[in-house]
Amino acid sequence: MDRYIIVGGHRLEGDVRVDGSKNSVLPVLAATIINGKESVIHNVPELKDVDSLIGLLRTIGCKCLFENNTLIVKSNNSLDTLIPEKPVREMRSSIILMGAMLARNGKVKISYPGGCEIGPRPIDIHLFGLRKMGTKIIEAHGYISCECDKLRGVEINLDYPSVGATENIMLAATTAEGVTIIQNAAKEPEIVDLQNFLNGMGARITGAGTSTVKIEGVKEFRDVEHTVIPDRIVAGTLMSAAAITGGNVVLNNVITDHLKSVSSKLSETGCIITEYQNSLQIMCNRKPKAAEVIKTLPYPGFATDMQAQMMAVMTIAKGTSIFIETVFESRYKHVEELMKMGASIKVDGRTAIVRGVKKLTGAEVRAGDLRGGAALVLAGLAAEGTTVVDNVKLHIDRGYDRLENKLIKLGADIHRV
Ligand code: EPZ
Repeated sequence: MDRYIIVGGHRLEGDVRVDGSKNSVLPVLAATIINGKESVIHNVPELKDVDSLIGLLRTIGCKCLFENNTLIVKSNNSLDTLIPEKPVREMRSSIILMGAMLARNGKVKISYPGGCEIGPRPIDIHLFGLRKMGTKIIEAHGYISCECDKLRGVEINLDYPSVGATENIMLAATTAEGVTIIQNAAKEPEIVDLQNFLNGMGARITGAGTSTVKIEGVKEFRDVEHTVIPDRIVAGTLMSAAAITGGNVVLNNVITDHLKSVSSKLSETGCIITEYQNSLQIMCNRKPKAAEVIKTLPYPGFATDMQAQMMAVMTIAKGTSIFIETVFESRYKHVEELMKMGASIKVDGRTAIVRGVKKLTGAEVRAGDLRGGAALVLAGLAAEGTTVVDNVKLHIDRGYDRLENKLIKLGADIHRV
C-alpha cells in the first residue's frame, strides 16, 4: 500500500509549483459529457481520483487522451447511461456524473456512492434539486435510476450550500427548458471554474461564486479549451508544511484570493506571508503561536479540507487551539495518529482541543483519509526521528500529485517505499 519514510527536523526552503485543482477538475471532467464534442483541459493533476473518473468516462463511451497534464475528451459517441458500481464505490464523487448524464441523455442509472472515511456523505440535496427539475428518481437495490424526458428550469433553494449538489444541479440545468436559479448555492472557487468551463462550451451561467447561480438552458454546444485553477488545498498543505518546520517557502501558480482564510490563520500563528501576482512567500522563522479558534465553514470560511493540516501545525504551537469541524460528521481520524506522535488532543464531538507540546516524536502511523494523511506527513516533517506513514497509495495519492517530490525539492528527508 506504499508508505512514506520521513526523517523530521529539516526546515523547508525553496520554491515549488502548485498543481491544478482536484476539486475543480472532477466536475469539469463530468461536464465534458454534455457538449458531445471535444474538450481540451490543461493543468490537470495526475491523481488517482482523476484516473478513476477518466476510466469511468471511457467506460460509458468517451474517448480520453491524457498526457503532460493536458486531457482531451471526445464525447460525440452515444454514451451508456449506466454507471457501473465498482468505480462509484472507489470514488464517491463520481456522483457528479448524474447531472451531466441527465443533461446529455435525460437518463442515468448510478449506484449509491455510499459513505467514506469522513462521514455518511448523503446526497439528499442533490436528489431534491434534480426532482424539482422534473427528474423521476427511483432508489432501489443500491442504485439510483433517474429519468426525465425534459428537464425544466426552476428555482431551487438548497438547505445547505453543498458543493456537489450545486455542481450537479448546474450541470443538469445547462440543457433544461428555461432558467434554473440555485439559491444558497456553494460559493467555492471550483464552482466558478465549472461555470467558466461550461460557458466555454456554450452554456449560459452567471452568479457562480455568489449564493445565487442562474443557468439558462441552451441546445447547442461547441468544443471548449480550458485551464484548471490551482489547487488551493494543495497550496494550503504546502503552506502548513512551511509553518510546521519553521521554513521559508515560495509557492508558484496560486490564486492568493482563494487562500485568504488559510493565510489569515497562519499569519495569526506568526507566519509572515507576502502575496505576489500568482505566487506567495511564507516565512515562519519561529515556533508557531496557537491560533485560538479554527472553525471550518463553507467558502469563504476556513476550509474543512484544511482542518487536519492546520491541526498538525497546532500540535507543536505555543498555547492551546480549539478546532470546530462544522462541515463533516467525523473528520478527526488523524487525531489518534497524531497522539501516537506525542500530540495532546482532546476530541468532544465536533470540537477538538489541541494543547501545543514541545516536540513530536516519529512513529508508525496510518492515513485514514486524504487530508488526515497529509496532516500525518506534515507532523512527520517536524517530529524528532523517523515517521512511517502507511496507506499513501490508498489515500494520499488520491489528492496529491507526488507529494514527496515537492517536499524533497524543499529539503525534506522523505521517500516512498
Ligand atoms: C466537496 O465534497 C469536496 N469534494 C470535498 O473535498 C470538500 O470537503 C467538500 O466539498 C466541502 O468543501 C469534491 O469537490 C470532489 P458538500 P462534497 O456536498 O460536494 C452534507 C477533499 O478532501 N450534505 O459540500 O461531498 C455533507 O454530508 C474532499 O478533497 C448533505 O447533507 O461536499 C457534508 O456534511 C473531501 N446532503 C456537507 O453537506 C447532500 O445532498 C458538505 O458536503 C450533500 C451534502
